[in-house]
Amino acid sequence: MIEISHLVKKFGALLAVNDISFSVAPGEVLGFLGPNGAGKSTTMKIVTGFLKPSAGRVTIFGCDIEQDTIAAQRQMGYLPEGAPCYEEMTPRSFLNFVAAARHLKGAYANERFQQVVDTMSLQAVLDQRIETLSKGFKRRVGLAQAIIHDPKILILDEPTDGLDPNQKHQVREMIRGLAKDKIVIISTHILEEVTAVCSRAMIIAEGKVVADCRPDELEQRSKYHGALTLDFDESVTAGDFLGAFAGLAQVALVESITENNQLTLFPRYKDQSILLDVSHMVRDRQLPVVSINQEKGKLDEVFRAVTQELNS
Ligand SMILES: Nc1ncnc2c1ncn2[C@@H]1O[C@H](COP(=O)(O)OP(=O)(O)OP(=O)(O)O)[C@@H](O)[C@H]1O
Ligand SMILES: [Mg+2]
Repeated sequence: MIEISHLVKKFGALLAVNDISFSVAPGEVLGFLGPNGAGKSTTMKIVTGFLKPSAGRVTIFGCDIEQDTIAAQRQMGYLPEGAPCYEEMTPRSFLNFVAAARHLKGAYANERFQQVVDTMSLQAVLDQRIETLSKGFKRRVGLAQAIIHDPKILILDEPTDGLDPNQKHQVREMIRGLAKDKIVIISTHILEEVTAVCSRAMIIAEGKVVADCRPDELEQRSKYHGALTLDFDESVTAGDFLGAFAGLAQVALVESITENNQLTLFPRYKDQSILLDVSHMVRDRQLPVVSINQEKGKLDEVFRAVTQELNS
């Protein structure tokens, strides 16, 4: 269990973390979202014991991070922002060094080394100096050191930033494949990543938690949740059919997206699907619709709404 209570961090006059409290239980994969400068990395640095808070308390399975730092850190793997590594080392020497620092020994150390090299596909660069590795490979080495001791808690600051699509997939699979009793906190600017891997989403803005719920609940806050997007045949103009759909009792609003030749239909009642009514109408009137998609909700719209409310 991670328990964070009334955390505050000031840098001079700047309030980077402004009274944040939450706890995370084993089995949870928590995604931190938030604008640049919101306080995500600062919160992670305090939770992992790399920065002292100005006020508040963090405990890791009962160990106070300030009083009992080593005992708390032993249970955590941490990928800091930008994935810093010792540039003059090779991945092989660096990972062996981290394994030794984590007190891994003998056959188990070798087994873990091989495991992280496989998971992060590092075989080809094991003996190349880290400073000469590409950005994505540096991040993979950073991820490998974070997981080498198979920690109960993983704190990953933008783990997939700069990775190619294959490696993004690999890292998401790695997180999804972790044992059910682990705690994972990741930060990301890729909103779909939260839906793909997280069981819980937290939006941080200006040092405060402004949303904390399941990713699908976040999507449901979108005005697009339950909306239908209809693609029309290119031989017609979607806008010409706007009036027909606006007449449906269950439809509150119809928007025409001219550039895509689409109409978006918003339901009058959030929890009532309009899919059946609309598809019946398309069939009965033989309208030139080529596809109908029901929107789950747009996270980017919710993100903007939640984080910009503060400034309005
Ligand atoms: N060592 C420091 N000294 C002074 N200000 C700092 C320091 N570290 C962070 N800050 C400031 O604290 C605020 C929060 O920064 P933080 O790195 O936590 O943001 P973030 O949410 O991780 O942003 P990003 O999405 O850009 O990574 C920013 O205004 C930043 O400039
Ligand atoms: Mg950051």
